[in-house]
Amino acid sequence: MATLPKVGTNWSELRDRLRQMKQDDYAWRAGRLPLYVYHHTEELLRISQEAHTEFFTENALGRTAFPSVANLESEVIEIGIGILGGGPGAGGTFTSGGTESIFLAVKAARDWARKEKGIERPKIVMPISVHPAANKAAEYLGMEVARTPLRSDFRADIELLQAAIDERTCMIYASAPGYPHGVFDPIEEIGAVARERSLWFHVDACLGGFLAPFAREIGYPVPAFDLSVPSVSSLSADIHKYGFAAKGASLLLFADREHQKYLRFEFSNWPRGIYVTNTFQGTRAAGPIASAWAVMNTLGVAGYREIARVIMDGKARLAAGIEQIRGLRVIQPSDLCILLYDSVDPAVDIFAVADRMAKKSWYIGKSITPKAIHVGLNPVVAHAIDDYLTDLSTCVGRVRNRK
Ligand SMILES: Cc1ncc(COP(=O)(O)O)c(C=O)c1O
Repeated sequence: MATLPKVGTNWSELRDRLRQMKQDDYAWRAGRLPLYVYHHTEELLRISQEAHTEFFTENALGRTAFPSVANLESEVIEIGIGILGGGPGAGGTFTSGGTESIFLAVKAARDWARKEKGIERPKIVMPISVHPAANKAAEYLGMEVARTPLRSDFRADIELLQAAIDERTCMIYASAPGYPHGVFDPIEEIGAVARERSLWFHVDACLGGFLAPFAREIGYPVPAFDLSVPSVSSLSADIHKYGFAAKGASLLLFADREHQKYLRFEFSNWPRGIYVTNTFQGTRAAGPIASAWAVMNTLGVAGYREIARVIMDGKARLAAGIEQIRGLRVIQPSDLCILLYDSVDPAVDIFAVADRMAKKSWYIGKSITPKAIHVGLNPVVAHAIDDYLTDLSTCVGRVRNRK
């Protein structure tokens, strides 16, 4: 068991130990990790780290103490609103990640339902593919959730969503795209249901929010999903994923900034006077905000388009390579950055292939429904595709021949 040392150790030795500890981690710089890490170039990583370090000590809770942080935060939010279809009335909050953005969206919808609709224990309706963070939020916030089955193309089934709506439902929630299959739910159609039934509509674009707009700009067919879709009330988009900022960076955006009042927590019954926050956290790291600002301003539209091109080209190369391997099949549709593939050969169990690949130091995501291997593309993963395909072909052969 670790104990606090009686006296300290010098930093160079501790740094060596920290580096040593990472030895058994998967080699994300070699593209072996198709999730958790989003990496473009060493130069961009250095800029992100330096910006983070510049604001390492400041505290984003102290908006009046650190107007610099408040300004950075406002600029990042404004940039996000611009990219994600917000009009002049839109607003937003910078949060620590997808889970916090989703938590706050669910809280806003709950408090809106209590105030505007008089529903004390409101309910959320969502397709089964939405990220578990939505259930986590509902559980914390004392709300009920109905998760509905998908269509055969893995998108939300509107009729089943509609059938699950009852008099206590306040919120409808969908993904753009969802993590399990990488496909967009039919956001415009769900928006029409939200309007008809007067529901809060949250779009979870945590994964694709900073990729989809640029993939569309370079010619890929990306369906309408953002704040410009009528009836979308709120949208979450993670800057620490395809925005390429340091971890701890996400946006929760509102089509109508008036709705931000439901985030506000105000408390005055303590000796130190009034305490107000608009996020779950109290003290907030300023580093991720500075990193997000620096990365966005380094990349610009041109940089994000280039990243989208690398990812989408990479996905096409990966899909073509997989289709070349006897017995494997790419599962369609795949709208953006996620690719699923399975086995059509009874002699090749896809999870046995996954286990073989893991032995070759590839971190492999397993999808349960459908039974498949799950790959999340980002530039560093795209650069490793040739090696990946070589090992994949070997592993499939070995599983088939039981060698
Ligand atoms: C669609 C979607 N929503 C929410 C999340 C949760 O984000 P975080 O892990 O940053 O809390 C993820 C994470 O992969 C996601 O893909």
